[in-house]
Amino acid sequence: MPWTLHRHVLYWDKPRHFMPERFLPEHRDRIGRFQYLPFGAGPRVCIGATFALQEAVIALAVLMKRFRFDVLAGERPWPVQRLTTQPLNGIAMRVSARPV
Ligand code: HEM
Repeated sequence: MPWTLHRHVLYWDKPRHFMPERFLPEHRDRIGRFQYLPFGAGPRVCIGATFALQEAVIALAVLMKRFRFDVLAGERPWPVQRLTTQPLNGIAMRVSARPV
């Protein structure tokens, strides 16, 4: 189960901390191929993985360049497993346009 695997104390340092730097290129060799499986693995691995990663980076870059997203005070996102992991009832944010 990826949710459990991705938070397992046997495999991750501070598994419940948000540490995106775990995934920096210089740390990649610390992450085993079957330790982190957002796109699955083996013969049925996701065929859209490379496209999905490129699309996400492009979409985020466009949005973050044009807008600022501030989470409203008091928001406490709670993860739920649907097709993907999502915040239950979303996350309320204030969106403001960045100056051009
Ligand atoms: C962030 C986005 C995505 C995530 C997290 C994701 C994740 C996954 C996962 C976990 C699987 C199952 C792998 C397994 O059984 O081991 C899968 C399969 C698949 N994905 Fe994705 N996927 C994403 C985007 C996409 C996109 C953009 C496409 C198509 C353009 C795509 C096409 C497929 C297909 C066709 C399969 C079935 C492969 C097979 O059974 O042979 N996915 N995906």
